[in-house]
Amino acid sequence: MNHPVTPELTAPWTAVGVARPHESAELHVLGQATYTDDIPEVQGTLHAALGLSSKAHAKILNLDLAPVLACPGVVAAYTAGDIPGTNDCGPIIHDDPIFAVDEVLYVGQPIFIVVADTHTNARRAARKAVVTYEELPAILTPQAAKAAGSYVLPPMRLQRGDAQAAFERAPHVVRGELFVGGQEQFYLEGQIAYAIPKENRGMLVQCSTQHPSEMQHVVAHALGLHSHHVTVECRRMGGGFGGKESQSALWAAAAAIAAALTKRPVKLRADRDDDMLVTGKRHCFYYEYEVGYDDAGKIVAARVDMTLRAGYSADLSGPVATRAVCHFDNAYYLSDVDIRAGCGKTNTQSNTAFRGFGGPQGAIAIEYVIDEIARNLGRDPLDIRRANYYGKSERNETPYGQVIVDNVLDELTAELESTSAYRERREAIAAFNATSPVLKKGLALTPVKFGIAFNVTHLNQAGALVHVYVDGSVLVNHGGTEMGQGINTKVMQVVAHELGVDMCHVRASATDTGKVANTSATAASTGADLNGKAAQDAARRIRERLAAFAVKQYGGDVAAVRFHNDAVHVDGHAVPFPELVQKAYLARVQLWSDGFYATPGLHWDPKTMTGHPFSYYSYGAAVSEVVVDTLTGEWKLLRADALYDAGASLNPAIDIGQVEGAFIQGMGWLTTEQLWWNDAGKLMTHAPSTYKIPGISDCPEDFRVRLFDNRNVEDSIHRSKATGEPPLLLPFSVFFAIRDAISSVGEHKVNPPLNAPATSEEILRAIDAVQVSVSSKQGSVPGFVSRVFADE
Ligand code: MTE
Ligand code: HPA
Ligand code: MOS
Repeated sequence: MNHPVTPELTAPWTAVGVARPHESAELHVLGQATYTDDIPEVQGTLHAALGLSSKAHAKILNLDLAPVLACPGVVAAYTAGDIPGTNDCGPIIHDDPIFAVDEVLYVGQPIFIVVADTHTNARRAARKAVVTYEELPAILTPQAAKAAGSYVLPPMRLQRGDAQAAFERAPHVVRGELFVGGQEQFYLEGQIAYAIPKENRGMLVQCSTQHPSEMQHVVAHALGLHSHHVTVECRRMGGGFGGKESQSALWAAAAAIAAALTKRPVKLRADRDDDMLVTGKRHCFYYEYEVGYDDAGKIVAARVDMTLRAGYSADLSGPVATRAVCHFDNAYYLSDVDIRAGCGKTNTQSNTAFRGFGGPQGAIAIEYVIDEIARNLGRDPLDIRRANYYGKSERNETPYGQVIVDNVLDELTAELESTSAYRERREAIAAFNATSPVLKKGLALTPVKFGIAFNVTHLNQAGALVHVYVDGSVLVNHGGTEMGQGINTKVMQVVAHELGVDMCHVRASATDTGKVANTSATAASTGADLNGKAAQDAARRIRERLAAFAVKQYGGDVAAVRFHNDAVHVDGHAVPFPELVQKAYLARVQLWSDGFYATPGLHWDPKTMTGHPFSYYSYGAAVSEVVVDTLTGEWKLLRADALYDAGASLNPAIDIGQVEGAFIQGMGWLTTEQLWWNDAGKLMTHAPSTYKIPGISDCPEDFRVRLFDNRNVEDSIHRSKATGEPPLLLPFSVFFAIRDAISSVGEHKVNPPLNAPATSEEILRAIDAVQVSVSSKQGSVPGFVSRVFADE
């Protein structure tokens, strides 16, 4: 057949590197995107609710479920003893019972599940159990855990050089304590699982999870089945933020147990209060630090001891602590360091992954210290930050031994300093504060360096499946999960680019353990990196087969065949993609393929905490300007400028959205989101009425987010870089701008003892401390000990 000859495009075909709307944007806006609770229910579906512990630590002397079973609509109630397989949903260490046995370890711990005809009937009945407890002493805070030597794992330590000797030589030393609170993931769609029994002991679980493969394993173990009996499917989540990496397991397992026992489909959907009471959050951290520095503000020795509130079980606390240890350096070269982390065992929710995964908690400690060094020396913190930045050819090895080869901190900071008019605004703020007794402004620029990859090497793998149908349409399935971050859009772009077809011909289907096996969690910001590469591999295999076939049909050289603009360009012909596909099908060419990717060059020794754990680093920096009312502690973010290194961005629109979202989410963590447990260990802030996440009015009116022009030096997917988590560290600048404004109350001579979250109450406490310190003429005190409050 004759085809019009089209000249080679002068620009290469591209579906990547361009702004594209989220593949579900229209569905989101129209309310037509299907979340787990929107899946049409199978006839006979039952609804479940969990019965929760009301004690932080107690023996269960007696559990009377008769009043539960007597409630209207109730079909059954099950406890640990009814579980057909193993009573465990722990991701790494098996210390996480699905239902408590004999003893409860926190307020909110599930003890039983009740199944009823409706969601409301199940919830009502769940509260009717009569539990007789014998109360035991409870440990609630990381400080208390440390004092009691109560840990879920052996403490870890990373040392480089000789910190002790370096301290002895250090001209100045700053020491203190800091407390940084945790954070609720507050995904808009709560935890949910819908389990449907299938023939011959099979079980289908549709649930909101970042980790379908782990849900498959947990459900199989709980039911005493093999993995091949269980299929887990997730089209999308209404947010995960780490909260559905491991902790979707409880809900998946409990729903599956109830479905297996009743032999009916069972849906378990947590309401917000239960979700917040039951599930773990970002770990709060308690730090004791000691840092030596010279007259120029260069750090010469650093020691930090971090205690995390792990909660009652290990969950992901080990890897979270590891990432905290590996991010204590943030952007700074630390020659002689001694970093310790202990996962304090407490009678609270088992804390888990949350965007940044310990990285933000590790890095904020060094930023706090640098802020103090600058004030002690009477210098602009930006200068002290720069003086400590990693170098390019020297001072470029991290404490864990990875040599940094892609450092852009200097260039990126210089660009932001200039575009944000940092110096001019610093002067303007000083002038404003000099004449403003009540309202005080503050400014800060903080950098981010964030390692991309799972520390655990084997998790850095992904698979994909690409189908080209006979009509030329393309379906891609990969091991990653969509939680709003745009992974499907990015993977679709990669596949469209590879096959030279328009995005409208590519569709992504639900993540499904029956399609791609043995997947890792979509986490550590690696989702698009790993699954993009795997999908590219699959699409390339199909393209190569099609190219070989095209040459057979039309002649020419395989190496010269091009796929672009919905056509295959071969030996002077431009064959429409669907036409070539149809011909290839008739010629019995395989039109679908799997693909696989494993990140090269990674290794990690958990014993010495050294190796090459990260594929590359993502960088960024932000400048924030705030105004604080020093009489009320209220404050406002006036302007924020963020510059983020997304490498050669796959999709700048999505990446800018990720930076904006992470910035505001991180700002919430450090300012308004306060988790508060009462003395009996009950989380009292378990709903939006008492737990304040940022609203639209908390966003700065002047918000300038830009991407830094920087191709990845590593061979990542189209030289892009991850964007999911690292920008969460950018609002450190908000926290330190608030601290700067507070410090102006004492003419910047005193280090305000500011813990996070910097709530209005905390801001007032810090102002008060500064005023007391100034009036007692203590002035700037190296070794000023920040106050620590017993329970955040
Ligand atoms: N963005 C949205 N909209 N919703 C989310 O739940 N999770 C974050 C981040 N961005 C999240 C998000 C977290 S914790 C991670 S690890 C990454 O997305 C995961 O996605 P990626 O690896 O595909 O970037
Ligand atoms: N991030 C998120 N999840 C993880 C990680 C990590 O670094 N390691 C293990 N699980
Ligand atoms: Mo993200 S905390 O790694 O799910």
